Amino acid sequence: KPSVKKIFLYLHKLAVDFFKKNLSSDSGKKARDYLKRRNISALISSNFELGYSLNSWHSLEEFFRKKGITIEDAIKCGLIIRNEKGHCYDRFRDRLMFPILDYQGRVVAFGARALGDEEPKYLNSSESLIYKKSEHLYGLYQAKQHIVKEKSVLLTEGYIDVLSLVEAGFKNSCAILGTSLTKEQIFRLSQLTSKIILLLDGDAAGQKAALRSAEMILSQGLDCQVAILPNGEDADSFLKKFGSKDLTYILKNAEEGLAYCLKMVRKNKSPKEQILWVENFLDKISDFKLKSFYLPKIAYGLGLSESELRQGLKNVSQTQTIRDSVFS
Ligand code: CTP
Ligand code: MN
Ligand code: MN
Ligand code: MN
Ligand code: MN
Repeated sequence: KPSVKKIFLYLHKLAVDFFKKNLSSDSGKKARDYLKRRNISALISSNFELGYSLNSWHSLEEFFRKKGITIEDAIKCGLIIRNEKGHCYDRFRDRLMFPILDYQGRVVAFGARALGDEEPKYLNSSESLIYKKSEHLYGLYQAKQHIVKEKSVLLTEGYIDVLSLVEAGFKNSCAILGTSLTKEQIFRLSQLTSKIILLLDGDAAGQKAALRSAEMILSQGLDCQVAILPNGEDADSFLKKFGSKDLTYILKNAEEGLAYCLKMVRKNKSPKEQILWVENFLDKISDFKLKSFYLPKIAYGLGLSESELRQGLKNVSQTQTIRDSVFS
């Protein structure tokens, strides 16, 4: 008897094939038009196994039944939903389907984009036995060998950013799927390269994410660079407007991660908050050598001498010790 995990993987494999077939069928014209509008070529679409979920409540369910699948299993892995009244229906309907692959290339989840401006714009699989969101990066399976070859990875926000980057020849690209990079994702990347280039959206959320992500990457001892896109652009829209030559220029001018962090910290925080940021950043680093490597750079970036910074940190930790002893 196959394990539950094997069954979930099998259902996702069946679903990908079903969604792909839909995309090339008559009913898939709407989705093919959408791909055209967004400049996604047939080659990219096929390399990333894009598909289409039909505008119907029961098409996947019926397909599963025909294949002799136990619907309970499809419900457990999240592809079919059962409401309180006991009615079953397909989770994904009338959407462009992006399979999310694991490190071995097996489909473990889907992201699904609305073709118009329905909400939510993206509907994603819920977590399951085979899908822990924090462990995966979209496009990593396809990018692996290119990351090794280029000795760096381009880390972007979304599905379409990855497709556009790959189309434009930046094949060492993958996406966080949102804005919160995790330790597990960084660990995965660290097995392929020691250099992560952040290419997040040029909006407030993207900037905030760049700071947080750079902090995490640096504290794990990896090299980090932050590429800055113009306000309102993401990798996809930038490439469409300006092309790959201009993106190469943006990447060439990417800021070194720590310098970027310190610039943002200095711009947005009071001197006292700046020290607290440093304290917190250093706390995340377990490697003592790495800490002493960063310290003079941090002082420089904040416009302090090293001894001023050390004194500041001492004051902070003293205040904390006093606070700790009051509360203990
Ligand atoms: N995202 C999500 N759910 C949402 C919005 C965003 O899961 N409701 C994730 C998606 O993985 C998306 C990424 O966050 O690709 C980045 O979000 P955003 O920049 O808003 O979307 P884009 O990728 O730019 O989407 P598009 O270009 O298709 O409009
Ligand atoms: Mn965004
Ligand atoms: Mn976009
Ligand atoms: Mn975006
Ligand atoms: Mn401390």
